[in-house]
This record gives sequence, structure tokens and C-alpha cells, in this order.
Amino acid sequence: MEKVKVALIGCGGISREHVDAYLKCPGAKLVYCVDIDEKAAREKAGIAKCRWHTNYLDVLDEVDAVDICTPPDAHAEIAVESARRGRHVLTEKVMARTLPEARWMIEEAEKAGIIFMVAFVLRYWPEFKVIHDTCVDGRIGDILQGYIQTQMNMAGYWLKSPQGIQKWRQDPYRFPMGAFLSHGCHYVDLLQWCVGNITETSGFSHAKIFGDVIPGGDDTSCTVFRHDNGAVSTYLESWALPYSTGGMRFEVYGTEGSVQLSLPEGGHRIVNLLNSKGKTELYHFNPEKKEDSVLAGSTTGHQMQGEIEHFVSAVLNGQQPRTHGREGIKSMQVILAAEAAEREGRVINVSEFINRPENKKPWNKEEFMLSVKKKYGRRLEKIKSWDEFRLEAKEKYSWYPAETDKKQQGYPSS
Ligand SMILES: NC(=O)c1ccc[n+]([C@@H]2O[C@H](COP(=O)([O-])OP(=O)(O)OC[C@H]3O[C@@H](n4cnc5c(N)ncnc54)[C@H](O)[C@@H]3O)[C@@H](O)[C@H]2O)c1
Repeated sequence: MEKVKVALIGCGGISREHVDAYLKCPGAKLVYCVDIDEKAAREKAGIAKCRWHTNYLDVLDEVDAVDICTPPDAHAEIAVESARRGRHVLTEKVMARTLPEARWMIEEAEKAGIIFMVAFVLRYWPEFKVIHDTCVDGRIGDILQGYIQTQMNMAGYWLKSPQGIQKWRQDPYRFPMGAFLSHGCHYVDLLQWCVGNITETSGFSHAKIFGDVIPGGDDTSCTVFRHDNGAVSTYLESWALPYSTGGMRFEVYGTEGSVQLSLPEGGHRIVNLLNSKGKTELYHFNPEKKEDSVLAGSTTGHQMQGEIEHFVSAVLNGQQPRTHGREGIKSMQVILAAEAAEREGRVINVSEFINRPENKKPWNKEEFMLSVKKKYGRRLEKIKSWDEFRLEAKEKYSWYPAETDKKQQGYPSS
């Protein structure tokens, strides 16, 4: 195969980043943009200069791989159908809605012998690779502590966008989660990659801003972890801080040094190492520098280039990608364990959680639908529309119409 022929499935918000990356990737050719919404499919196909379709099943015979950019409820079915027909699969995060659904994807991919990769884009950004390498090559010694904080004002973002929040985020059958699983999976993935696998967890969360409009989960959380090497870490996240400064913190401390991401004004991204020799700059992304601006040359700064090139190269060379399915499920396991820890008011051992009968059983869609109905009960009838939220926010909050919105330096948001 000279070029990987790809069908991009799901032509909404994030797909633009994927299209841009394929257009710059010499090893791949986008041959279809597919969406159940014909207008969306046509529009993306126009940008990608390829064909469009409204049913992915009809295009599988003409491609080598699919790139799934649909909402999470459609990831598993599309991945499994594609794998069964021998197509390689890249899927957007979060991989699936439940652990059995995610395991189903992995098992079918392995049975089919295809490349299966989860789009944890940050693992393909240079600053995080530098932090990872510094942590694992011994430069900071034994790791003692990790810290990540991500904070955003998605209310500001959604209130400003003409279509508001996507309907699927308001439906717990389609989106039985909140910020922690949907957005936080990127960062728990990074924590495990850099600090070590997480063995125990506990935490707290609330949904004070979006609880009635995104009923599937939290909008703000605070979680603690123990790692398999004895290190401890914490992750503070929110997509609902009206006065967010849009910043992000990532720091790892060891016996021989520490490594920090720093984000000064102007879009710079710096990684510093601090040790007995003082402070050393390990990486500096400067958006004003020509060679760096190539990296920054994406529509919204999500920078999918590294991720897409890694996937294409894995397909061409038959190599296991860095974020293959069994890596992709790990952050789901930890986050769902942390949520169970909060519900049960205790610390949870992640292995014990994964081995619970409800998490080990085969995927069954009907059972899942019943479990959502049971979990959300009468709240399902009381879910607010985005327009109701908008009106209430106007009455209730000083920040409406969200003048405080500040972008999170291009890091993944929702
Ligand atoms: N990595 C990141 O930084 C990042 C950022 C945003 C979103 N995402 C993820 O990307 C995915 C999509 O998010 P979005 O914001 O683009 O959503 P979106 O609602 O803007 O777009 C989703 C599109 O998928 C289409 N679709 C739904 N079901 C389909 C099906 N069965 N077949 C074909 N098309 C279908 C919809 O019509 C819609 O056009 C989600 O899983 C989300 O978590 C990732």
C-alpha cells in the first residue's frame, strides 16, 4: 500500500482538524467524508476535495482505514463493523461509553488483526513527549509526585457559538459522562504515561453549572491517585469555571529533579527541568518562530498532525501505535474507578474495579439502555434545553454573555 485510503466518519467540530492533518500527510489520502447529515458531509468533502456519503457501511470496501469523529455513542459500532471488514481504525476519544463497550472494540480489533488507535492527541505533541522522556529516562530520579490542572469556561464557549451545546451531550444514553471522562481522559492518559500506571484512586466532583443541561456527569472534579511506582498525584479539572484563566499546569517531581510545563502569554509552551545544576529549558514552542509556526498551523490549534502521521505510519508499517486500544482504555478504567470511589465514599483499587462483574461482562446495548434509565430515573424528563440554560444563565450569573471566555492555549477542551 503506497498511501492509506481513509474515510473520515463524522464531519462536525473536531473533524476539521483531522481533515487539515490528512491534507498535509503524504502517506494518506482522504477518499470519503461521511456524515449522517448530508450537509456536513458535503461541506467537509469540499474542503478535503474528496467524495462524500451519508452511510459509512457503503464506503468501507473502498478504503483501508476509518477515522471516527462521531459522538462517543457511535464509536464502538463503527469501529467494530470496520474492523470486521478488515479496515484499520482511529477513533476519537473518549473511546466508548462503558468498559464492556470499549473492551468489545479491542477484542474485535485484535480478532481482525487491524491497527486500532485511540486519538489521544497530546501524546503526539512534542512538549508532552519531552516530559514523558524526562520522567522515564531517570533524569528526575524516582518519581515522587505529579500534578495536572486543566480549567476552562465551556459555558462561555458554547453560549457564544450559534448552535450552542451539541444535543448529544445532553442525552445520558449518548453521553453518560461529564467533563472528567470526556475531557479528563486526555490528562489521566498523560499522567499514566509520564508518572506510571495508576493503582488506587479517590475523589470528589460536582456539576453546579451544567448539572441540569449535561446530566451525564460532573463539570468540576478533584481526584487523587497512587501509581504503581509508589508516586502520588492529583488531577484538578473543570470545563465550567466562568472566570477561568484558560491555563493548564503539568508538573512532575522526582528525587533528582522536577519537570514543568509553563505557558507564558503569547502562546509560548516551555518545558523546564529543575535539578542540582539549576534550571534548563528542555523545549520551547515559540509561535513567532517560522519553524514552530508550522506546528501551530492548524485551524484551532489542536494540532492533529503528529497523531494522524503516527496512525498512518502504524498502518503502512504494521506497527502497534503508541495509543493502541489497550492503552486507550486505561484512562477510562481509572476515571470510572474514581467516580465509583466518590459514590462509595472510599478509596478504590483500580484492578478490583476492573474485575467487578458489571465491568467484565460482554457488551450488551439493551442492558446499557436499561441501566441508564435506572441511574437517571426521573431526571431524564427534567433535562433542560440549551435555550432554557441560556435564559437562566442570563438571569443568574454576572458573567453572561461570557465575556471571560479564554481559550486554553489550544489544548484539547471538550
Ligand atoms: N481530541 C480533542 O481534542 C477533541 C475535541 C473535541 C471533540 N472531540 C471528540 O470528537 C468526537 C466528535 O466531537 P465533535 O465536537 O466534532 O462533535 P459534533 O457534534 O460537532 O460532530 C459530530 C458529527 O458526527 C455526525 N454523526 C453522528 N453519528 C454519526 C454516524 N453514525 N455516522 C456518521 N456521522 C455521524 C454528526 O452528524 C455530526 O456532524 C467526540 O467523541 C468528542 O469527544 C475530541
